[in-house]
Amino acid sequence: RTKRQAISAEPSALDPSQLTDVTLTSYCKSKESSELIQRALMDNDFMKHLEHGQILTIMDCMRPTSLEKGCCVIQEGDDGSTVYVMEEGMVEVTKQDKKLCTIGPEKVFGELAILYNCTRTASVTALTDIKLWAIDRQDFQTIMMRTGLIKHSQYTEFLRSVPSFSSLPEDILSKLADVLEETHYSDGDYIIRQGATGDTFFIISKGQVKVSQQNSDGEEMPNEKSLSKGDWFGEQALKGEDVRTASVTAVGDVTCLVIDRESFKQLIGGLDDTPSQQKDMDEVNAKLQVEADFFSSVT
Ligand code: CMP
Repeated sequence: RTKRQAISAEPSALDPSQLTDVTLTSYCKSKESSELIQRALMDNDFMKHLEHGQILTIMDCMRPTSLEKGCCVIQEGDDGSTVYVMEEGMVEVTKQDKKLCTIGPEKVFGELAILYNCTRTASVTALTDIKLWAIDRQDFQTIMMRTGLIKHSQYTEFLRSVPSFSSLPEDILSKLADVLEETHYSDGDYIIRQGATGDTFFIISKGQVKVSQQNSDGEEMPNEKSLSKGDWFGEQALKGEDVRTASVTAVGDVTCLVIDRESFKQLIGGLDDTPSQQKDMDEVNAKLQVEADFFSSVT
């Protein structure tokens, strides 16, 4: 299971109304420079999990800058405002006058203070004349924030289109969109393994999965019907149980929206309030019963 986003702009540092008004400026760059920046971002431990669209937008907004040998690019302890990608030259990273490392072309630096909203963790000095690409904090955070807002409205819209969720009130759909985590799987990946512990609920937003259960001889018996977009599984999260009663594997590329047990209980637990929602709850209970029957038959 891969996380949707391993890092995000520090929420406390963001003023959403201010950031949605920011106009992002793109800077022309050669194909070589564009590719170098993308490779650098994708190679950086803190940035590599960003979505491809975010990487492209960050690349697009990076402006060229050059500094002479001996210049201080970053001073330890300062408030940081810029993230850099090195195109040409060499810099030295020092902390309390102790050399940590040197950084050459195709590397990101200056990301920590922006990502974690802290002061500069080290000083960076140019060992040669250097050519850099730079993006300012506000642009960087705007890109993070806008992607988040777009994602949020896409999730809400998708949940509204799923029959089992369509009757949930708008504020609940919005809260679900806040808490869910998008996960991606490739063909044959186990999303859930029978017998493992787990407390997450999955809604398929793309692709197909197959469900299988072991018979008493330990053979995997695939269920005939596969599940696809809009279907859900892993609903033990509804109950106190945490042992998976079947295995679920990806058929081709699959994207799931995953909701943890607590959020599920708080936000979806009240599905039985109205007759139409009762139907959904009945479906959940029927599935749970099948799983419970199966599980008791194999134990
Ligand atoms: P930031 O703290 O914003 O500014 C100084 C930068 O130096 C920091 O981000 C990192 O990009 C880089 N840096 C800090 N510590 C190390 C380290 N131990 N190795 C490599 N780079 C570092």
